[in-house]
Amino acid sequence: MANDIIFEPLQFRTLTVKNRIFRSSISGRWDNYDGSGTQARINWEEKFARGGVGAIITSFVPVAIRGRIMPNYATIHSDESIPFWRKIGEKSHQYDCKLILQLSHSGRQQDIAGVENQGLKALSSTSDTEPFHGFECQAMTSLEIQETIQKFADGARRAREAGLDGIELHSGNGYLFTQFLSSGINNRTDEYGGSLENRARFLLDVIKAIRKEVGNDFHLQFKISAVDYNNAVTFWEKPGNTLEDSIKVCQWAEEAGADAVHVSTGSLFPHPLNPIGGFDFDIITKTYDAMLSSGTETTRNYILFRKSFLHPIFKLLWNRVKKQLPPQPFSGDAVQNVKMSQLLAENQGRNLLDSREIKKHVNIPVLCTGGFQQASYIRQAINDDYCDGVTIARPLIANNDLTKTFQEGKDLPDKPCTYCNKCLLNVIENPLGCYEQDRFDSYEDMMKEVMSVFHPTQFAP
Ligand SMILES: Cc1cc2nc3c(=O)[nH]c(=O)nc-3n(C[C@H](O)[C@H](O)[C@H](O)COP(=O)(O)O)c2cc1C
Ligand code: SF4
Repeated sequence: MANDIIFEPLQFRTLTVKNRIFRSSISGRWDNYDGSGTQARINWEEKFARGGVGAIITSFVPVAIRGRIMPNYATIHSDESIPFWRKIGEKSHQYDCKLILQLSHSGRQQDIAGVENQGLKALSSTSDTEPFHGFECQAMTSLEIQETIQKFADGARRAREAGLDGIELHSGNGYLFTQFLSSGINNRTDEYGGSLENRARFLLDVIKAIRKEVGNDFHLQFKISAVDYNNAVTFWEKPGNTLEDSIKVCQWAEEAGADAVHVSTGSLFPHPLNPIGGFDFDIITKTYDAMLSSGTETTRNYILFRKSFLHPIFKLLWNRVKKQLPPQPFSGDAVQNVKMSQLLAENQGRNLLDSREIKKHVNIPVLCTGGFQQASYIRQAINDDYCDGVTIARPLIANNDLTKTFQEGKDLPDKPCTYCNKCLLNVIENPLGCYEQDRFDSYEDMMKEVMSVFHPTQFAP
């Protein structure tokens, strides 16, 4: 692997990661209802550390129960969680893999609020109902904003006390930070709304509060949606932030004390461009029912998913923004399989053009997410200054040892991820894993792999 940029360490201001492959956040309902962690999550993260990634960015970790996406995600909302996170950190360190915790708050983008939040409206920058699922919310008061800033600082302190290697602020993809940043969502008239500078204030205040709490030598990166495409599906909404807006935000975040930026896209999650790929109506029909009481538009969506004669309408709305995307900036080595070659061209590196523009305007390392799974492609992206490292989610769910595959000199795994998104659509109700049956010899084999995360159990002799 001599002279292969993929296997050269990435040096941040206070953190060194052994290679350029980061496991991107992947949320799954592994944990206890109250947010305490389980052995299954430890087993899950161990799969990727063992598979050779340089660092794992954890799933969405709420800093408050009010800021969860749904129950059964491990939280960091109290000091009681510190021993659990310490355990995960120690496990990944056994493989020389760094552990970066994704500090998060759902804001109004809350799929299933959970019984502790019953009767409480979600907090947001706005009181406007989220248009796709119809999640209702209320604009945070100044006091609630200050309390939430402190919750992020407390979360960072806990991550540090747990011996983790850093934190990532989940300031992309429609969650609370996006709800402040986005001109398509934030309609406040106080110092946290209006101009871009005002809309960025919440993120910058959090960065400053974290620096005050944990000092300057703890790694802090942030994820950002380079472009909002806020009206991608709900075309009657405002478009939201542009790439130029996000470049400014990245520069301010760097000045405030951020060590790296992680480039994503879209002011909603999931979004037609994130994760880009397929949409399976059979699966969403089986899982979306869990969200029926969560929003004012969920019944409308459920009918759209369930009635096949309505599918063309949904597909038209979901796919229209993909058609506006420029082609991939370059392609990797040729692939024999025509279908795979097309899938790679459609899905790999779709945020790279935005990432390159951001990289030109900041001095901190830039990580890019979105479809990466081919060594030659990743190598060129880094060598040609589109980014400093890549983050991977689905291709690593499909092949936990993808990094080792690259180390062995292979350009692509034998059974690549098809970007079908069946993992994502299952996650509301079912264990996280690869549900693309074509990648397995049988349904039983697929289930065996999905369920492997529950072994060893906590009670193993
Ligand atoms: C099942 C699933 C869960 C995800 N959960 C999160 C999350 O908790 N936080 C986050 O920032 N991104 C999350 N993502 C987005 C990924 O981190 C990643 O940025 C995106 O899927 C694009 O990368 P990929 O093409 O390698 O999958 C999730 C993606 C999937 C498929
Ligand atoms: S289900 Fe499997 S093949 Fe499909 S996107 Fe997820 S990991 Fe990739």
